[in-house]
Amino acid sequence: MALPKVDFEVGADGVAVITMGNPPVNALAIPIIMGLKDRFDEAARRNDVKAIVLTGKGGRFSGGFDISVMKKVHDTGDSSYLPDVSVELVVNAIEDSKKPVVAAVEGLALGGGLELAMGCHARIAAPRAQLGLPELTLGIIPGFGGTQRLPRLIGLSKAVEMMLKSKPISSEEGRKLGLIDSIVSSEELLKVSRLWALEIGERRKPWVRSLHRTDKIGSLSEARELLGTARQQVKKTAPHLPQQQACVDVIEYGIVHGGYSGVLKEAEVFKKLVVSNTAKGLINVFFAQRAITKVPGVTDIGLKPRNVKKAAVVGGGLMGSGIATALLLGNIHVLLKEINSELLMKGIKTIKGNINDLLRRGKLTKQKADAALSLLQGVLDYTEFKDVDLVIEAVIENLSLKQTIFSDLEKICPPHCILASNTSTIDLNLVGKKTSSQDRIAGAHFFSPAHVMPLLEIIRTDKTSPQVILDLITVGKVIKKAPVVVGNCTGFAVNKTFFPYSQAAQLLVNLGVDAYRIDTLIRNFGFPIGPFQLADLAGYGVAVATSKVFADAFPDRVFKSPLLDLLIKSGRNGKNNGKGYYIYEKGSKPKPDPSIQPIIEESRRFCNIMPNGKPISVTDQEIVEMILFPVVNEACRVLEDGVVIRASDLDIASVLGMSFPNYRGGIVFWADLVGANHIYTSLKKWTQLYGNFYKPSKYLEERALKGIPLSAPASSTPKPVARL
Ligand SMILES: NC(=O)c1ccc[n+]([C@@H]2O[C@H](COP(=O)([O-])OP(=O)(O)OC[C@H]3O[C@@H](n4cnc5c(N)ncnc54)[C@H](O)[C@@H]3O)[C@@H](O)[C@H]2O)c1
Ligand SMILES: *[C@@H]1O[C@H](CO)[C@@H](O)[C@H](O)[C@H]1NC(C)=O
Ligand SMILES: *[C@@H]1O[C@H](CO)[C@@H](O)[C@H](O)[C@H]1NC(C)=O
Ligand SMILES: *[C@@H]1O[C@H](CO)[C@@H](O)[C@H](O)[C@H]1NC(C)=O
Ligand SMILES: *[C@@H]1O[C@H](CO)[C@@H](O)[C@H](O)[C@H]1NC(C)=O
Repeated sequence: MALPKVDFEVGADGVAVITMGNPPVNALAIPIIMGLKDRFDEAARRNDVKAIVLTGKGGRFSGGFDISVMKKVHDTGDSSYLPDVSVELVVNAIEDSKKPVVAAVEGLALGGGLELAMGCHARIAAPRAQLGLPELTLGIIPGFGGTQRLPRLIGLSKAVEMMLKSKPISSEEGRKLGLIDSIVSSEELLKVSRLWALEIGERRKPWVRSLHRTDKIGSLSEARELLGTARQQVKKTAPHLPQQQACVDVIEYGIVHGGYSGVLKEAEVFKKLVVSNTAKGLINVFFAQRAITKVPGVTDIGLKPRNVKKAAVVGGGLMGSGIATALLLGNIHVLLKEINSELLMKGIKTIKGNINDLLRRGKLTKQKADAALSLLQGVLDYTEFKDVDLVIEAVIENLSLKQTIFSDLEKICPPHCILASNTSTIDLNLVGKKTSSQDRIAGAHFFSPAHVMPLLEIIRTDKTSPQVILDLITVGKVIKKAPVVVGNCTGFAVNKTFFPYSQAAQLLVNLGVDAYRIDTLIRNFGFPIGPFQLADLAGYGVAVATSKVFADAFPDRVFKSPLLDLLIKSGRNGKNNGKGYYIYEKGSKPKPDPSIQPIIEESRRFCNIMPNGKPISVTDQEIVEMILFPVVNEACRVLEDGVVIRASDLDIASVLGMSFPNYRGGIVFWADLVGANHIYTSLKKWTQLYGNFYKPSKYLEERALKGIPLSAPASSTPKPVARL
């Protein structure tokens, strides 16, 4: 890979072109920032330089500050890795330069990239470049003057929207708003930018220092009103995200005290936010997401992914139709196989429904929707399977049925074809037992609805070949899923980790805690809904079936609540039959259903675990911990057993599969912030009070006692050597 560097070239016209080069997005790594300082100094010094153009290599201006620098600050605790960009580079070297500077923008100017461009005296852009300040998605605010210059260039209202929503705009929109001075073709970009810079020098074009403008920010009272409204909104929509409030505050500070003071304030707040838990969490998720597709022994041994052009889905139920939809949207031909034409029609109808739904919600264009549907073919036998590259089986969980299907597939599909099963409860080795194709059998565990949920667990057995895993990872990327490679065990990574989640909620209710209080607290923690609303959504049948699977697999640590059976017995099945913990009415938020109380009382009597028959008294924090610490405990087992390759895979899986709040960094990351020791001691205490459901795992105990982070790779805890 090419090293990051900044090029410098002075033309016969006296224009110095400074080019940032750090593929693929010219991220502002430290050498780039240092290089820029040197080059701008050089341009200022040299007599043959009359004007300056700043641009990026490879058709991209810059994707922003190198996020790995912030990661380094987190890993080392040393903030001195953060360079002074906002004053030394943007204000002193660029904006206050005695020579005019023009940004020639192409492709993208995001985050720090756009902030550099805004420090220039004019911005010329190629069509359709992406411009934005997405910093808030990482828990920080723009730190190179963006909070000050964007409002001054495009007005407060639009600037606030762009920052708080992290929403980029195009060059065209930027031109209308005043962010971009002119749009020219990509071929003419440099030529026009050089001329523009020279004309600024000759005062034939305005020499604008954005930070000194005030014409677009309105009166102080108008600004205060607008920012006050934004603040109120943020309080409601993002109560957990300190960077949102901070962003509004810093903008206001600059309006009250002037742009330069604003820049200094911004830098100060930026530095604080970089080391906030929110930034740590979001940046962990950023890198976790990028790490999942690096699989030792699969992606680092020189294999090339094979193209999957045609796939087949066996079974057109809810899951099969969802999987087929996802594949179609990824531009892959799909055969949908069912056992009779009635069921086939039903499956196709579901797929059409899925696609129309996305169309209606504006997630797809009509053209894309039509194209996707044109790739679908329904079949009732395997004749057409002779040239498929991938089959995903999604029939009901029945071993002998699956075995029959796999041995049929083996006969008809070409030898390179990947045979994947969506089974969650049946051992894949048994599924493939009657075939001689075990090297190309793997699991593909989608989350329902499969065309919406972003996570894909790829399950490998000891026999699955690296090529097949690589191909499935590639398909996963093509259909825009996050593919996490996991090992075979009950529940795989996500369901195994989270089975204690609903069980702990049930346990608490039987101990006398109010179910709605639990849901509210879990929502306040950051999950979109609480465990009881989730149960309503999934239907109680799912919960019963799932608890049985886990009760069989882990009898030492399950909690069996009588409540579910009682609910089902009284004709309740959650949201889909309108009888859940909540009352669901169109157009209003779900309301607690008081008629459920007697059933809960009955369950408590039946269960009889309340100490002295009285509800336990617990704080809000304890409730959250009593639900999430058992999840952490199970996550430890997942790590210990090597079900995931690395802790951050479980972080991303928890965020994408269970909607664990991303700003908490994922389940393991959060646990390390809380501290293994506190989790361990709490679990030990609850084990004494409430039984083995809470019993700390060996992994947790060891790490808590030795002070090793749960996320640290196994090598840092040397396994005891077996004694002969
Ligand atoms: N500096 C900031 O404050 C900030 C905040 C958010 C996003 N961004 C940038 O915006 C772009 C789009 O973000 P997205 O979430 O849509 O990602 P994306 O997945 O669509 O694109 C990510 C790109 O970022 C590159 N990348 C990987 N590691 C990086 C690093 N350490 N620093 C910079 N770039 C890296 C990848 O190679 C990839 O091309 C990215 O380039 C990202 O760096 C910057
Ligand atoms: C597999 O598909 C069947 C049929 O749609 C479904 O009942 C089952 O829940 C799916 N299993 C998984 C793990 O997705
Ligand atoms: C499982 O499938 C086999 C073969 O298709 C069938 O004979 C059997 O009845 C099924 N079992 C159940 C429990 O549905
Ligand atoms: C796969 O997981 C199941 C369920 O835990 C287990 O019964 C089976 O032995 C496992 N197979 C392998 C090869 O690990
Ligand atoms: C995993 O969890 C989801 C959601 O609760 C459920 O639909 C699916 O059937 C579960 N699979 C297993 C193995 O428990």
